[in-house]
Amino acid sequence: MSGKTVLVSGGAGYIGSHTCVELLNAGYEVICVDDLRNSKEQVMERIERITGKQPIFFRIDLCNYDALDRVFHSYKIDAVIHFAGLKAVGESVEKPLEYYSNNLNATINLLRCMELYGVNKIVFSSSATVYGNPKTVPITEDADRWCTNPYGWTKYMSEQIISDWCVANKDASAMLLRYFNPIGAHKSGLIGEDPNGIPNNLLPYICQVSAGKLEYLRVYGDDYDTPDGTGVRDYIHVVDLARGHINALKYLDGASGCECVNLGTGVGYSVLEVVKAYSEACGKEIPYKIVGRRAGDIATCYAATDKARELLNWQAELNLHDMCASAYNWQCKNPNGYEQ
Ligand code: NAD
Ligand code: WQD
Repeated sequence: MSGKTVLVSGGAGYIGSHTCVELLNAGYEVICVDDLRNSKEQVMERIERITGKQPIFFRIDLCNYDALDRVFHSYKIDAVIHFAGLKAVGESVEKPLEYYSNNLNATINLLRCMELYGVNKIVFSSSATVYGNPKTVPITEDADRWCTNPYGWTKYMSEQIISDWCVANKDASAMLLRYFNPIGAHKSGLIGEDPNGIPNNLLPYICQVSAGKLEYLRVYGDDYDTPDGTGVRDYIHVVDLARGHINALKYLDGASGCECVNLGTGVGYSVLEVVKAYSEACGKEIPYKIVGRRAGDIATCYAATDKARELLNWQAELNLHDMCASAYNWQCKNPNGYEQ
């Protein structure tokens, strides 16, 4: 597929920007569509500094069908990678209508344009959140799905919408990628995760503790049924994750129908193991206090990785040290994120 044109929705965001880099390096033309509600336009220039090429960028809300239609009308697009969406679990509980409206309308508008302009291939950012509280680990793709918050349901419903669209369009092919816990940053330190306000997720929070912006980490519970009592997750380097999208595009080239694949390492680490790995990577202690459990958290979650290996010929290559060291490098070089 290289040499072809990929429309990347949400391409200015954390995972989208890393994927734009991998796409450009692999020889794809990239059209990025993002309304910058959770990202900065400076990302485009950073991508150019890494790859020597800039994506074509449109600041467009995907819920604005006419604006999106104009992009499809103007370019010959070969495939879509759909990252755009709201992603904060807690916020989705407070603002369910905003989450359903944005995440589902964005997906539907993209598919409507794809159908109208004969674009048949889509890679979708789904999430391990669709497995809810898994009965067993490692989690295989055929495990039961059940969500515990509106964000998760938007992923569940988008998966269903895309799958139904593939049934109705015989030439269509879709890859639903269920990400586990993406962390880390590009080794250049030019792009990385830049959350607004106080971070909810573990790694961005630890990064801000290491920078002295937050005093200490609150570890949410040490009484889970895990080796050290703290929650266990499958952390995956964002660059490995981005590479997985290139493999997914290659897979779709010769495929029809809809498939789902986990993108994780298959290894679970506890909160305290992550704290230790990050301390080693940055050469500083990360102060923490054990506090009560966070509502909605589960004990353990990690991926079965066989399907990704077999179908996509993909597996994670970078380890927890690489993830922590690259996150620290990004934090040091960009203490205020993309704001100088
Ligand atoms: P992000 O917020 O950094 O990127 C999402 C991008 O989409 C942002 O740049 C935002 O401005 C844009 N966007 C949102 N709604 C839009 C709209 N209506 N029109 C145009 N642009 C819009 O998030 P991320 O971490 O890069 O996540 C990318 C995707 O992966 C999301 O769909 C997310 O749900 C999914 N995902 C993320 C994680 C994670 O832990 N980061 C895990 C699993 C799945
Ligand atoms: C990881 C571990 C916490 C913060 C979320 C979404 C999921 C997916 C990825 C999008 C847990 C503990 C955290 C802190 C802590 N996103 N923790 N102190 O909850 O596994 O997954 O992001 O699809 O849907 O739910 O990630 O990074 O928030 O937490 O102790 O300040 O770190 O309890 O065990 P989570 P996380």
